[in-house]
Amino acid sequence: MNIKSSKILIIDFGSQFTQLIARRVREAGVYCEVWAWDVDAALIREFDPKAIILSGGPESVHMENAPKINPVVFELNLPVLGICYGMQSITDYFGGDVVPSDEKEFGYAQVKVTDDSRLLSGIFDEKEHQLDVWMSHGDKVSIMPEGFVKTSETSTAPVTSFEHTDLPIFGIQFHAEVEHTKQGRKIFDRFLFDISGCDKLWKTDNIIEEHVANIRKQVGNDKVLLGLSGGVDSSVVAALLHQAIGDNLVCVFVDTGLLRYKEGDQVMQTMAEGMDINVVRVNAQQRYYNALAGVNDPEQKRKIIGNLFIEIFEEESRKLTDVKWLAQGTIYPDVIESAASATGKSHVIKSHHNVGGLPDDMELKLVEPLRDLFKDEVRKMGMALGLPKAMVYRHPFPGPGLGVRILGEVKQEYAEILARADHIFISELINWDLYDKTSQAFAVFLPVKSVGVVGDARRYEYVIALRAVETIDFMTAKWAELPYAFLELVSRRIINEIDKVSRVVYDISSKPPATIEWE
Ligand code: XMP
Repeated sequence: MNIKSSKILIIDFGSQFTQLIARRVREAGVYCEVWAWDVDAALIREFDPKAIILSGGPESVHMENAPKINPVVFELNLPVLGICYGMQSITDYFGGDVVPSDEKEFGYAQVKVTDDSRLLSGIFDEKEHQLDVWMSHGDKVSIMPEGFVKTSETSTAPVTSFEHTDLPIFGIQFHAEVEHTKQGRKIFDRFLFDISGCDKLWKTDNIIEEHVANIRKQVGNDKVLLGLSGGVDSSVVAALLHQAIGDNLVCVFVDTGLLRYKEGDQVMQTMAEGMDINVVRVNAQQRYYNALAGVNDPEQKRKIIGNLFIEIFEEESRKLTDVKWLAQGTIYPDVIESAASATGKSHVIKSHHNVGGLPDDMELKLVEPLRDLFKDEVRKMGMALGLPKAMVYRHPFPGPGLGVRILGEVKQEYAEILARADHIFISELINWDLYDKTSQAFAVFLPVKSVGVVGDARRYEYVIALRAVETIDFMTAKWAELPYAFLELVSRRIINEIDKVSRVVYDISSKPPATIEWE
């Protein structure tokens, strides 16, 4: 069985929601890929999709150099769904017109759906014909394209969806892919299954089976090396490769001394003892503390930590003479972002260092088994492969670890205090059932001394800051409104249990203007 045989092509016009479209399609059980709008026609034909979805985008169809639909999209005679800019570019292509709205429409709108829409009829919220949708657009359709009929409207945008009378071509002005459009999943199901006739093959068990078979085909009986970090992606790569090639997988786990509380032991317990995976643990704590002594600048600290990792990883890999492959935990959003940035059409946010940088003379070939998966798919795969939930659903942790959560110079003493304080904070978040409600939470070590009173004695000790944020994309974030009673308990525990801390503060800055990390 080829689980990618029934697949959708998503053409990206640069919307911030394009990846959400892909996730909705995948969740529905259909494989899809996201390609930039200016991709070659030949590649589109070769991809052989069942249907095509055109994303939204920041441009206006009348702007100079505005992205256009490649005619091949319609020459293939496939079902096409245009969302927002996608709908406007269908309008432009078929001879209609688009004008700027008096004001940008952003937020909820209620649209009135006509009786005979093949895409929307029978899908409604409270009352038949009424659909609550999420809008975000500056332009609207002013003249209908030829051959199309209107299928819904609001008072401000007289055409909020349309479809061709004979061909399976549809446009929606609203964003069915965002959670705020509650019936969005039903609209995608209608398009994918009723209109496009896709099969539901993209399911976790099938995905694992296919990926295992592909890995076996790709690496054969060769040995594969993997840098294990304790994070979700590398752990899932390890579990998947282990299932595919067993002992031919060798993992190197570097304990930097800048990891979470007892994380090194936990990684060994879960992966080496629990799952019987080959893991070489390198205790490099002192090397990191020595390399970081006297260094205050955050960017320099990041560089030192990253370079030392590569150096140690390289030393370890040289000891393994018969390794042919290097595995990496690259996931699909990384692939989309680096491809899109080549066209200059997407706004790339950041590229954090991945394990890499091995010298060319080792000539390791790359195996990246998660390259076609979104994070939620990677997580589902991790659970199905038997990884613990705590590992799979963990908050993200930066590559430089506690190195950027100790302000200024990093010292072993500070790292130990911070790891303990962080552990208290995180354990209580879990106890209070708040961990999954925050997107990222951690403690920060401030190397300043503040006064406290213990019994009758005054003492001057360090300050710990607690940070917890809610965010979807980590580009913007709001500080989490944790209950006062919870903060009080965590503060008391940290000060009582850790001698070297006399004060705990809570960070109430949102991003922007603050960043999530303190350095
Ligand atoms: P900021 O601090 O930029 O963080 O708001 C956004 C997200 O990125 C993570 N982060 C990093 N991850 N290496 C990483 O691998 C880094 O140097 C780094 N700096 C920030 C941060 O934890 C948050 O999730």
